[in-house]
Amino acid sequence: MCGIVAYMGNKDAYPIIIKGLQRLEYRGYDSAGVVLYDGQDVHLSKTKGKVEDLKNKAEASINTVGKLGLGHTRWATHGIPNDINSHPHYSNSGDLVIIHNGIIENYETLKKALQERGYVFESDTDTEVLVNLIEEVKKKEGVKLGKAVQIALNQVVGAYAIAVFDKTKPDEIVVAKLGSPLAIGIGEDEYFIASDASPFIEFTNNAVYLEDEEMAIVRRGKEIKLRKIKDDAIAYPTIQELQLNIEEIEKGGYDHFMLKEIYEQPRAIMDTYRGRLRTEQGIIKMAGIDQNLDKFLNANRIIIVACGTSWHAGLVAEYTFEDLARIPVEVEYASEFRYRNPVITENDVLIAISQSGETADTLAAIKMAKEKGAFVFGVCNVVGSSIARETHAGAYTHAGPEIGVASTKAFTTQITILTMIALKLAKEKGVFSESRFHEYLTELEAIPPKVEKALESNVLIEQIAEVYKDSANCLYLGRGYNFPVALEGALKLKEISYIHAEGYPAAEMKHGPIALIDDQMPVVVIATRKGHYEKVISNIQEIKSRHGKIIAVVFEGDEMVQALADHVIEVPETIEPLSPLLTTIPLQLLSYHIALMRGCNVDQPRNLAKSVTVE
Ligand code: F6R
Repeated sequence: MCGIVAYMGNKDAYPIIIKGLQRLEYRGYDSAGVVLYDGQDVHLSKTKGKVEDLKNKAEASINTVGKLGLGHTRWATHGIPNDINSHPHYSNSGDLVIIHNGIIENYETLKKALQERGYVFESDTDTEVLVNLIEEVKKKEGVKLGKAVQIALNQVVGAYAIAVFDKTKPDEIVVAKLGSPLAIGIGEDEYFIASDASPFIEFTNNAVYLEDEEMAIVRRGKEIKLRKIKDDAIAYPTIQELQLNIEEIEKGGYDHFMLKEIYEQPRAIMDTYRGRLRTEQGIIKMAGIDQNLDKFLNANRIIIVACGTSWHAGLVAEYTFEDLARIPVEVEYASEFRYRNPVITENDVLIAISQSGETADTLAAIKMAKEKGAFVFGVCNVVGSSIARETHAGAYTHAGPEIGVASTKAFTTQITILTMIALKLAKEKGVFSESRFHEYLTELEAIPPKVEKALESNVLIEQIAEVYKDSANCLYLGRGYNFPVALEGALKLKEISYIHAEGYPAAEMKHGPIALIDDQMPVVVIATRKGHYEKVISNIQEIKSRHGKIIAVVFEGDEMVQALADHVIEVPETIEPLSPLLTTIPLQLLSYHIALMRGCNVDQPRNLAKSVTVE
């Protein structure tokens, strides 16, 4: 939610900031802004729309020179997306300027108090309140900017990653973080500040990630000074060497990040199990599990918390953990779990799943479970993310950066890692024989080439998309392991094409959704030969009798469904617990093509953002 970038050094700040904002657009893209200091004064440009709109406006209206600047791409929380609500925001004197990612929850109270003291506000944002609060403290207490930021933040309730500077003292930027990510890239005589490392990866591999409740004063030609916001204690920066490379964050010849990420899945799944799956030795090695095996083996139950697509991966894991390892599992929406006073005991293990590792509701659920004594394990993609740091132990999916807002490779790699955990526990518990364990490991290793094969249906799927691109609604049905895949297929379609879509367990259809079926209704049915096959075929018959249009995803060589469905998409055969890794692929491609044909912005669907750091 919102991306921030700042630069201070010897290069021109403007191109670095614009490129950085484009890389951070996945975080929010309803408006954008930039401010530059040219050695004399500041020049600000901001606009509703994308970074490209900002670029056009800024280059036509302001002097874009300067070796210091701040930039912002917004996902609106307080105030509609318009030019005025866009960041950066000035303080009333015009001296201070700020960019902010997060929410100031007590901004109304602070605003009222500032208004009583004569402050006026142009925008509806909480951020303009914060910059004026800093200004008020600075003047009243007669302190420097860093101290003023610290005092002000101690009055604030909410979440923030901020960068603020004073144009009367333009050799420093003050940054602070609580609940939203903030990285400082350290180059030669230059500093970069950003929501993640992507804006500065071609300039430096050295970065400091601020911890929650830390602030830093970044001075030209000086070392960074870190402090704790609460008690002023000195904190010592740990400089990390970044693993990210530039190719990973570019489109690499694909038209969209989503398509690139769909096609990356064979490699991504392989990277997830690489070094962990040791089929020859008959073992799965995973440090986070190995070191905490007793916690998992003695757990009363496993509670999985997540949101969106990650929640769907959690639902698949419910099947694998219960079916393979015989451990009871509950899967919860993090947002509901955290507020419903759940019963959690010290014998519970909580698994939090999150691609970004920054989702506010998932993070809050983790903190609550920790307070109640549960052991908390994280499954994240983004290395060093807040959730990865907050959990007791965890396993990274190693999918590589996912930039398309709709999750694709994150989902399949989450399923891969969760299946590996279930298999490992099944073996440790003695539920699985050596030979069955070996069979599963071998089959998991065979998945990447099978995903390649599934991707070969792309042209056929494009043709099917052409037929249904103007549909108003779509149903997705699946059973067992493929019920969560139906939910995920529906989510993919609605979020990027804006077609209303619902996923259901196939047998539930007759309890309501069947009323929707007519000759205008496409129904996507996952009907693999393993698991309730005949029952799903009966469901297909029921849809056909009501003239619904059937798009079936089946295993190669299927004849029964072939005879019934309007369209058939084949994926290679596998064992049932691994089938979601293959059946998901055509559903991702179908939503991609339909969205494209409807003229939708596939990588940046309206109203969404990649990392949801607000409740
Ligand atoms: C859907 C999608 C979202 C995320 C959800 C959780 O395509 O991307 O539903 O899955 O916002 O995000 P993470 O996994 O980062 O916690």
